[in-house]
Amino acid sequence: MNAVVATQTGLASLDGDKLSALERLADGLGPAELYWIAAWSAARAERAQRGGVLPPTAKAVGDRLTVLYGSQTGQAKRIATQLAARAEATGLSVRLVRADGYAQRDLAKETHLVVVISTQGDAEPPDDARGLVEFILGKRAPKLPGLRYSVLGLGDSSYPQFCAIGRQLDERFAELGGTRLAPLGEADVDVDAVAGPWSERALEQARQALGASTPVARVATLQPVPSRASHTRERPFAASVLDNQAIVARDAGRDIRHVELSLEGSSLHYEPGDALGVWPENPAALVDQWLSVLKLDGEQPVRHDGKELPLRRWLSHERELTRLSRPLIAAVADASGDSELANVLRSDQASRLATLLADQQPIDLWRQHPAAWSAEELVSTLRPQTPRLYSIASSQKAVGDEVHLTGAVVDYLAHGERHWGAASSFIGGAGDDQRLPVFIEENEPFRLPKDASRDVIMIGPGTGVAPFRAFVQERRETGADGRNWLFFGNRQFPRDFLYQIEWQAALRDGSLDRLDLAFSRDGDAKVYVQQRIREQGRELYAWLQDGAHLYVCGDANQMAKDVHAALVDVAVTHGGQSHEQAREWLSALLQQGRYARDVY
Ligand SMILES: Cc1cc2nc3c(=O)[nH]c(=O)nc-3n(C[C@H](O)[C@H](O)[C@H](O)COP(=O)(O)OP(=O)(O)OC[C@H]3O[C@@H](n4cnc5c(N)ncnc54)[C@H](O)[C@@H]3O)c2cc1C
Ligand SMILES: Cc1cc2nc3c(=O)[nH]c(=O)nc-3n(C[C@H](O)[C@H](O)[C@H](O)COP(=O)(O)O)c2cc1C
Repeated sequence: MNAVVATQTGLASLDGDKLSALERLADGLGPAELYWIAAWSAARAERAQRGGVLPPTAKAVGDRLTVLYGSQTGQAKRIATQLAARAEATGLSVRLVRADGYAQRDLAKETHLVVVISTQGDAEPPDDARGLVEFILGKRAPKLPGLRYSVLGLGDSSYPQFCAIGRQLDERFAELGGTRLAPLGEADVDVDAVAGPWSERALEQARQALGASTPVARVATLQPVPSRASHTRERPFAASVLDNQAIVARDAGRDIRHVELSLEGSSLHYEPGDALGVWPENPAALVDQWLSVLKLDGEQPVRHDGKELPLRRWLSHERELTRLSRPLIAAVADASGDSELANVLRSDQASRLATLLADQQPIDLWRQHPAAWSAEELVSTLRPQTPRLYSIASSQKAVGDEVHLTGAVVDYLAHGERHWGAASSFIGGAGDDQRLPVFIEENEPFRLPKDASRDVIMIGPGTGVAPFRAFVQERRETGADGRNWLFFGNRQFPRDFLYQIEWQAALRDGSLDRLDLAFSRDGDAKVYVQQRIREQGRELYAWLQDGAHLYVCGDANQMAKDVHAALVDVAVTHGGQSHEQAREWLSALLQQGRYARDVY
């Protein structure tokens, strides 16, 4: 393609600003998207040369639709990419941009904007949108009287603050003078059920606002290249179990498994940092409990969504049984006529709702609020089952057609009964003869540095260590010469030091340069990784000043926040920065992709 352009026009290179803007945009895109951009640019260049539909210079901002996304685990990115492709296919000029590639100064000039953004953590933006969301919600945001916008929030109604970031942006744009094109969309875990119709509506509104004429057929190159992966979220691969073993002592108080699956015959490919999606089957014992508590017959056929299955199959494979959500609380309150339960959903009862969501599974609610449910009502009320993600704990360069996971099994006693997590107990209990439905979830922002001479600092307590096993394997296989430093922590050295033998071997063979450990229940005083970070602050700061990349994986509720606070302290103590400067420095590292988090 380059050669053709070169002979016809002479190869023009981009000046520094444009090149960095392009690099920012391309950073984090996968091969399919990069090819799509290449094909799109080529088609555009050809048309410009022929004096075709589009003028050779970029369209004015006011004539085009900007589709902006912020995404942690890829869903918002997928929806935004589809929406941009549809918009383009109907003749609109579109710019698709990840939030951290969006220049904040462009916002004041923006006239037609669609935002697709998920909510993470405790009602926080995804990492790639942190800077932009802060800017939009902050004092420096410009007035936006010329802006027409639509926001689609992605979320999970089992979290207390459902789609919080989508909501905040939608309200803030209005406050700044913008005009809503489509009403705020709020997509729950079955994302496409809302995102599909919402995208159609938002697109139609944008087309009208932009004064687009009837849809025009576009050249084939403007369609996104379909994913070449043979197996996807919707078409998972049935991976056989090669190994499944506990990697904690019997008396550790919980079960953490190392699981090896075969991808042979799937042509699935993954990079260190990616996650494996697993479609769970609910535990048979839990399904039995449901049938008994609700006094329903598992063999009874139930027709829903054009499918007829026995109720037991709906409950074991098709419906979410283990996570409480707001719509389910509302339905149970309604069916049982319990006004006290209904009150929990009032906006002034946020903390009671948060406690309920954290403390109970649906089975607890059924037990406490009995009501007569028909099998059909039950199936149509419950949310569809959704896959869970697990950080991949292996490098494909080291293990070939295999994929390894590190999974903590959720199995606990509460309200006098045993409770399970759907996916972790499914994986934990998977035997040799079993196959698990899996797919690869790319995680572009969580990648080893392209420059192999860069040092990496990995902070991964508990199962958060999983991707770092993949990182260290990869750096060993590729002979990367940058240094590798791991912070690991758990409860007790003798009981749950995950992959202890492997880390010790890695220290010996030089594929791990430093290992700092923190066990919280070994001594009188609790020690966590953040304490080790502070203790090693001088050296850690020096590594970062030398260009090291920093990664954090594991618990989002407490650990990631505490580690962030420890990193601020390190920059204050050893870098002479003020707290404000230290926070900005870390934000800049996040923006540059030198500080990446994969927390859950
Ligand atoms: C990007 C990403 C990477 C991840 N990587 C890993 C990984 O490498 N390893 C790993 O183990 N997990 C990982 N997870 C978490 C994983 O996806 C699941 O969320 C986890 O295994 C629980 O899923 P489950 O289906 O077993 O439980 P679910 O069926 O989803 O939930 C069970 C319910 O029980 C509640 N609950 C859970 N534990 C307790 C408890 N102790 N006490 C009271 N209530 C409880 C929960 O609130 C929930 O309502 C990752 C998540 C993400 C998003
Ligand atoms: C660690 C974590 C925290 C989350 N917190 C929230 C939340 O507070 N509110 C919400 O509505 N959704 C929450 N979600 C759900 C995500 O927003 C939802 O899964 C979304 O589809 C992810 O989109 P993305 O892949 O583009 O990031 C959370 C998900 C994870 C993994």
